[in-house]
Amino acid sequence: MATPNPPFQTAVKPFNDATIADAASRIIAGECVAVPTETVYGLAADATQGEAVARIYAAKGRPSFNPLIVHVPTLNEAKKIARFNDPAEELAAAFWPGPLTMVLPARKDSPVASLVTAGLDTIAIRIPAHPAMQALLKASGKPLAAPSANASGRISPSCADHVQKSLGGRIGLIIDAGPTQHGLESTIVAPTDSAVHILRPGPISADRVAAAAGIPVSIREAAKIDAPGQLASHYAPSKPLRLDAVEAKADEWLIGFGAIVGDSSLSPSGDLVEAAAQLFARLHEAEASDKPHIAVAPLPATGIGAAIADRLARAAHSD
Ligand code: TXA
Ligand code: MG
Repeated sequence: MATPNPPFQTAVKPFNDATIADAASRIIAGECVAVPTETVYGLAADATQGEAVARIYAAKGRPSFNPLIVHVPTLNEAKKIARFNDPAEELAAAFWPGPLTMVLPARKDSPVASLVTAGLDTIAIRIPAHPAMQALLKASGKPLAAPSANASGRISPSCADHVQKSLGGRIGLIIDAGPTQHGLESTIVAPTDSAVHILRPGPISADRVAAAAGIPVSIREAAKIDAPGQLASHYAPSKPLRLDAVEAKADEWLIGFGAIVGDSSLSPSGDLVEAAAQLFARLHEAEASDKPHIAVAPLPATGIGAAIADRLARAAHSD
């Protein structure tokens, strides 16, 4: 995937008040910033700005959209985004702030952009313990979407130098607070009323999760989950979808791009970052329309367009 044009001058700055103020103003402006957490360094962007989230994918060169974890400073903020059942309350009390991520039903009035959840009706959420990430959350006043701060296909970064080697020239700022405590990603769980599903093993063991939740734990790694509903790991539209459509057939809702106008548009100006930010909202709108089929205009598969193409191809073959 191409680097942004013009390439970024990547500053590596120590964690202090001035660096956090710089980072917060970049976040509010829609840039992404690398920031340490207690697990690994994350590449953070304002979760409420779809285009800022799209820039995470562009910087990582990720060839597909996976749902991202949203980081918040407090339980109060978490409850504005997700709905908590009793086991989730118990797990929050036991492990937050800390290296536990919970996948919960997203609130209908959540301010989080649909690209963060990749169109799912659940959301992964975590209160991180690291003082740098906590400081950035407070200074920006935004929920922060953050995957690990490595280029796609590279290992997760546990120090600023790893981030610099992987994303140097693709992002503006790396906040350096030395090596991370755990060096591997958070444990991901999906608490239902009767059981807690472990979707990704991590620093908090299944035994500790079971003891805190007081209900059984099952190991169900995300990749193996494909049933519809709460634990689905990929959004798939309920209507057939046709790709590379230059005009709509009578029974189709056409999602346009650039010169192809359609019933709605991913980006009238043909901007791929805007198209990525709009993708899931436009697919949901097409599903809700009175047309039984969906068609999508052709998009260039360059840069972040590759991730859009991947997501549309999966939707067309309803994975
Ligand atoms: O320690 C961590 O969790 C780090 C730091 C930066 O916080 N973040 C991280 O994010 O590892 P990422 O994007 O590399 O991993 C997110 C994982 C993915 O495997 C994704 O599939 C899963 O979370 N995930 C996110 N939302 C989900 C959802 N609604 N349902 C199921 N899985 C979800
Ligand atoms: Mg990762």
